[in-house]
Amino acid sequence: MGETQENLGTYDVIIIGSGAAGLTAALELAQSKRVLVLAKGSLTGGSTAWAQGGIAAVLDAGDTFENHVRDTMVAGAGLNDLASVEFVIEGAPKAIDRLCDLGVPFNRDKDSLHLTREGGHSHRRIVHVDDATGWAVQSALLKAAEASPNITMLGGRTAIDFITDRHREKFSAAGRIWGVYALNEETGRVERHTARATILAAGGAGRVYQFSTAPRGATGDGIAMAWRAGARVSNMEMMQFHPTCLYNLEVKNFLITEAVRGEGGRLFHPETGHRFMEDYDKERMELAPRDVVARAIDDQIKRFGLDYVHLDISHQPPEFVREHFPTIHEKLTGLGIDMTAGPIPVVPAQHYTCGGVVVDLMARTDLPGLWAAGECTESGLHGANRLASNSLLECFVFGEAAADDILANWDALEEPPAILPWDESRVSDSDEQVVIKQNWTEIRRFMWNYVGIVRTTKRLERAANRIALLKKEVEDYYGSFVVTTDLIELRNLLQSAELIVRSALERKESRGLHYTMDHPDLAEDIRDTVLVP
Ligand code: FAD
Ligand code: SIN
Repeated sequence: MGETQENLGTYDVIIIGSGAAGLTAALELAQSKRVLVLAKGSLTGGSTAWAQGGIAAVLDAGDTFENHVRDTMVAGAGLNDLASVEFVIEGAPKAIDRLCDLGVPFNRDKDSLHLTREGGHSHRRIVHVDDATGWAVQSALLKAAEASPNITMLGGRTAIDFITDRHREKFSAAGRIWGVYALNEETGRVERHTARATILAAGGAGRVYQFSTAPRGATGDGIAMAWRAGARVSNMEMMQFHPTCLYNLEVKNFLITEAVRGEGGRLFHPETGHRFMEDYDKERMELAPRDVVARAIDDQIKRFGLDYVHLDISHQPPEFVREHFPTIHEKLTGLGIDMTAGPIPVVPAQHYTCGGVVVDLMARTDLPGLWAAGECTESGLHGANRLASNSLLECFVFGEAAADDILANWDALEEPPAILPWDESRVSDSDEQVVIKQNWTEIRRFMWNYVGIVRTTKRLERAANRIALLKKEVEDYYGSFVVTTDLIELRNLLQSAELIVRSALERKESRGLHYTMDHPDLAEDIRDTVLVP
């Protein structure tokens, strides 16, 4: 048994992830507890920093919670859990107040916050900071966390697996979580981090697809870790594809926010100039929910052999476009595209993981000692398709719920027991890094081609066969060589792919984001796809 680095300091709660969900929980807990936040790579490496459009909240007198609930359930094709939807939507005004208190400089319209509009929303209700809301939110949360004496944040730590009762010096089979083994990316050593409570806030699995708007680290680590530790995972087939990712051979994952369509942007066939949404959703046109618009674009691209379609907002005054979308305008100008004068080439790309680790309204997972919040979870909010700008909101509401539940039950949470160190006795350094690169590329490619926007049973089975082959190879490799972040991510990417394909094969209907040509209709009974380890 190779002795590696010990738990660095003593903390009450460990949080895996420094995005909106993790830092919301950290700030709430830090009022009375010592909190350790671990993040892979940089502290700003998650999706939160990349969010553009904004945060949905009922703040306008003409809008109601009921409207927002209805829009969320319509987008989610009825698969949502009503209690969760109401919980999150009613928690929105408080979440926005707290962000204002932290200094997030939301755009204003005289005395009130400016509200923009996005697809699937019946009212203007998106609070935003220009077209770079995520960066403003991430910065404010980080600043507050850095100022708290009770919060320690360690970037460059890749969580590998939860510490469970299996890792106690004295084995007991209660299935409780006591913290996490994490790779120190700088030293290459594996650290043990233990605490009375652990919160998982590790984001989504978008990078399982070849084309994704998500950052490089979105490899489903949290979902895979929780699954391996014994937690149920639900609705993983519900992968959201954003309709409008920039088509550019150099810049592969730059999002063109839905707010461009919210402020009047229209979609056109690039050769005929036909406004094709007329053929798919005449009433809602470009503001139909994302699954409808993404499928329409996918259909145009496949049917006409196109590389992309056009998104055009150049009918709006140039000043209006520059003022509303300064980040996108600047980025596109740098690429030689003038969005005030002509169209933007766009394609759909994976964008959001609706499924994940099953949690209840207190953010509890199946595993004692483990809470989870944000994109790595399935809380019942999104159902079969997430309504735009509901996900940051979910992070704030469930991040707080996790913290509150831990605080409310603090006295019943035991101190962690003595834990075995990470076992490195049977592994050596790898001399074949190419295996990781090859497998990573292969997974992402077949997931895009076989498990994408439009599916068939045959394609899903093909993907399942490849996953089975790769799984053996990757597990052999994992068991033989010293862990690296690339290897950890590859293992998790493959696990996430398996969960997605298994879930997709189980759903014998087309609902929301899951569209299969073999079962094109809705089934009568509405049920979650719940996988049990
Ligand atoms: P993240 O912000 O993704 O953070 C995950 C954290 O976990 C990171 O700190 C990461 O380093 C860490 N982590 C991951 N794996 C490990 C590991 N193994 N060990 C240690 N740490 C780990 N939603 C909206 O509501 N409105 C929007 O306008 C919007 N725009 C978006 C635009 C883009 C381009 C993208 C990609 C997403 C957008 N979303 C939007 C979705 C939203 O940004 C995310 O769902 C949300 O930010 C997720 O927050 P999170 O805290 O759950 O995870
Ligand atoms: C966007 O700005 O289009 C993204 C909004 C979201 O993903 O919720």
